[in-house]
Amino acid sequence: EPGATGRAGAKAILLGEHAVVYGRPAIAIPVRALGVEAHARPADDRGHLSSTLYHGPIAQAPDRLGVTLTAMRAALAAAGRPGAALDIAIESSIPAERGLGSSAAVSAAVIEAVLGACGFAADDETMHELIQTAERAAHGAPSGLDARTVRARKAVWFDRGRIEPVSVGDDLVFVIADTGVRGRTREAVAAVAHRREKDPRGVESALDELGELATALRRDVSTADRDAIGSAMNRAHELLNGLGVGDPALDHLVHAAMAGGALGAKLTGGGRGGCVLALARDTASAEELGGRLTRAGAAAVWTTTVEGVA
Ligand code: PMV
Repeated sequence: EPGATGRAGAKAILLGEHAVVYGRPAIAIPVRALGVEAHARPADDRGHLSSTLYHGPIAQAPDRLGVTLTAMRAALAAAGRPGAALDIAIESSIPAERGLGSSAAVSAAVIEAVLGACGFAADDETMHELIQTAERAAHGAPSGLDARTVRARKAVWFDRGRIEPVSVGDDLVFVIADTGVRGRTREAVAAVAHRREKDPRGVESALDELGELATALRRDVSTADRDAIGSAMNRAHELLNGLGVGDPALDHLVHAAMAGGALGAKLTGGGRGGCVLALARDTASAEELGGRLTRAGAAAVWTTTVEGVA
């Protein structure tokens, strides 16, 4: 049996994180600059894993590799080869725990590689379910947005478990800046749930507004109305802060982005750390904005263009 390769990309949530957990729609964009490649091949012995986090026998891999191991085992079981030994190598440029979908992307790449190495062809729904199995090991009850988006090549509309393509009126250039602070998605999701118990009306109204913003945003993206997209992002950032998932490091970069000419900026992903997503007017301003965010202390900055249909 020959080896097989699996690939997946990073994602950023343009609008709707946390609200999706409560059935509201969201829009996510692929981040092509960052990705994962996994390679799997039949092992001579019991199987080795090679990744930035760990090099060694799979049987001795530490708990923090739980997502990778769950992904591998779920894929082997789906292929009807639960006991098969594979050597797996993973290379990822997606920083972990920054709200960029690293765990879903690693899972997707590993699952695709393992299934390929077993000669098993999975349909989209099977792939999605396998990624979700690994994501549950990482986050508890993931909405499925990450699992869907890391395999998408375009901007996606996500509503109650399903994605649809989003039409994009013109190239939209975004800058992503990493606070360097680990995002704490599980904790942030739990904090929103707790707040919702104490203040159901307040939280529901914020979630409703986030849902309405996502719906309006879909139209603004289709006409590439950059000012409208920017204000929706700013409002979403305020609402997310109100839900208790912000962080001073995020606010600092959001302010720096706005001072640096962004049309809008917000936290992206689970929050409490992780990254800020900012909309630039064009490629030239994105470069300036990136420099500004670096000088403001961002640990890393990436530019990503969501291509419009000509
Ligand atoms: O931080 P990330 O990239 O895992 O994104 C989490 C998005 C949430 O809406 C907060 C949770 C979810 O399951 O969708």
